[in-house]
Amino acid sequence: MYIKKVAVIGAGTMGADICYSIATAGIPVVLRDVSEDVLTRARQHIQELFDGRVARNKMSAADALDRMSFIVFSSNLDDMKDVTVAIEAVTEKMKVKQAVFRELDQILAPMALIVSNTSALSITELAQATRRPERVAGMHFFYPAHMMKLVEVIAGEKTSDETLYTVMRLAEEIRKIPVKVKECPGFVVNRVLMASMAEVLRFKEERGIDAATIDQVVTKNKIAPMGPFMLADALGLDVAYEVAQTLYQTLGERFKPSDELKQLVLQGHLGVKTGQGFYSYR
Ligand SMILES: NC(=O)c1ccc[n+]([C@@H]2O[C@H](COP(=O)([O-])OP(=O)(O)OC[C@H]3O[C@@H](n4cnc5c(N)ncnc54)[C@H](O)[C@@H]3O)[C@@H](O)[C@H]2O)c1
Repeated sequence: MYIKKVAVIGAGTMGADICYSIATAGIPVVLRDVSEDVLTRARQHIQELFDGRVARNKMSAADALDRMSFIVFSSNLDDMKDVTVAIEAVTEKMKVKQAVFRELDQILAPMALIVSNTSALSITELAQATRRPERVAGMHFFYPAHMMKLVEVIAGEKTSDETLYTVMRLAEEIRKIPVKVKECPGFVVNRVLMASMAEVLRFKEERGIDAATIDQVVTKNKIAPMGPFMLADALGLDVAYEVAQTLYQTLGERFKPSDELKQLVLQGHLGVKTGQGFYSYR
């Protein structure tokens, strides 16, 4: 299937970066969000990414301008009618995502694909909200999506081979490295990441050690390039909490989100995006 135009639904942490990657590859893209403020911030963020490339001599100013013009920032559903692939990157909640899937199913052409950037939810269950389950798949990018190459590609129970092939090709066209993974809670990367995250949160609670000390031990010993608490703040604590909940409900106690994480989310402290998480960014 020829990929003429793509839509990204949800212009938050992930959606904006995914949109940038698509426009950089010269594919027309509509970036949609329900919030005009989020769309304005996404436009600024994407402009800064292009400006950064120009400053590092990775792209000419004319090319950056040209690529920026491939993006339509929109809160209008009509702008998405003629897309070939819609990438859903909204809040990590089954009900919210299924509502978006239902809406997309109504307005997109019957041939169009609907894929989800979900971190852990069932693709089969998302597909049930549509009349085209064979045209639904998972396309899981990683944070920060404008830099990270890996994309997990997930088939639901009814996903067709043609759909998977088109999703793999789209990932390659936007210079990513797609890897097919089996449908299961958290797929591969988040199952591993969240298992270690759950353990490190338990360790923090049990020993009463602060986040910065643990992060320093991890980074100074080169266990990971970023400490787990700084990473969680950057990913968004609401996302981390929802993913942990999905894994806890499906795989059991060992993934149970810590009380501290739950409290932070309940207080609206979601990390970098709200200015407060395990660390303060104000
Ligand atoms: N943050 C990460 O590191 C990360 C990594 C990989 C995958 N993901 C997944 O990507 C998805 C988005 O995560 P995020 O971190 O970008 O979240 P986010 O909170 O930064 O952005 C979500 C956006 O969705 C918008 N939205 C909500 N309902 C909508 C609707 N009906 N129509 C259009 N827009 C709507 C919100 O306004 C918000 O701007 C989630 O499924 C998450 O699990 C996140």
